[in-house]
Amino acid sequence: MGSPSNGFSVFVLVISSMAAVAFATSDFYQDFDLSWGDNRAKIFNGGKLLSLSLDRVSGSGFQSKKEYLFGRIDMQLKLVAGNSAGTVTAYYLSSQGPTHDEIDFEFLGNVTGEPYILHTNVYTQGKGNREQQFYLWFDPTRNFHTYSVIWKPQHIIFLVDNTPVRVFKNAESIGVPFPKNQRMRIYSSLWNADDWATRGGLVKTDWTKAPFTAYYRNFNFAPATTGSSSSSSGSSWENAELDATSRRRLRWVQKYFMIYNYCTDLKRFPQGFPPECRRSRF
Ligand SMILES: *[C@@H]1O[C@H](CO)[C@@H](O)[C@H](O)[C@H]1NC(C)=O
Repeated sequence: MGSPSNGFSVFVLVISSMAAVAFATSDFYQDFDLSWGDNRAKIFNGGKLLSLSLDRVSGSGFQSKKEYLFGRIDMQLKLVAGNSAGTVTAYYLSSQGPTHDEIDFEFLGNVTGEPYILHTNVYTQGKGNREQQFYLWFDPTRNFHTYSVIWKPQHIIFLVDNTPVRVFKNAESIGVPFPKNQRMRIYSSLWNADDWATRGGLVKTDWTKAPFTAYYRNFNFAPATTGSSSSSSGSSWENAELDATSRRRLRWVQKYFMIYNYCTDLKRFPQGFPPECRRSRF
């Protein structure tokens, strides 16, 4: 057979072994505790894979052993396949207490063949109400995809497969609290929310399809380097601003995949939008 295809497979091999090296330290035994749901939460493949499941009796969840303050957090998820309507897979960072901060990804399941909703929110000082929702540009149940949070003193960026979908800027200068003083743990849970998740509770969970299972792998945490010239470190996520490509990707997502934005929900804020909504976007 032709040598070009051989050359290509060597190339693919090199790239994939590089990826394997980059994630070589991911070990769920080391970084996470299974926190609820008994044996519905499992770690296997020597710590490389974790699964959560949900049945009629209970869901399940896990949480990080450590607490984090600023950095880039990556996790690959493969969501509940088939008829997942009514199930919610929550993956989030949160601190403790009544004035807690929180950075949320929530995946709302759907009936077979219909799109998941990616629901996002940011809580500061115990107050949320900053929802943005998106459809995804792929089927999140077929393969693993990477969901990331870049959390820095200047901004929080939500990314899907390295494409920014949402940016929450530090707007303290106009009176909006920003999460920067409280360490957060990483949490995930799979639970039943058929009372609200599927079009306000219209579609119910089909328990004949239980147990529902979601999978996790390749967790990675990279601390943000503290100090003045963070851009000199070389990794692009450390930069204070999104680069032109990322800004273009963000606009593409916001234009074609965003289905709800609290910042444009007039009915909800008849007195005027929250101050951070008036800030110009990236
Ligand atoms: C489920 O699919 C319907 C129809 O395509 C869509 O309107 C809805 O936003 C989807 N997601 C959820 C969670 O209901």
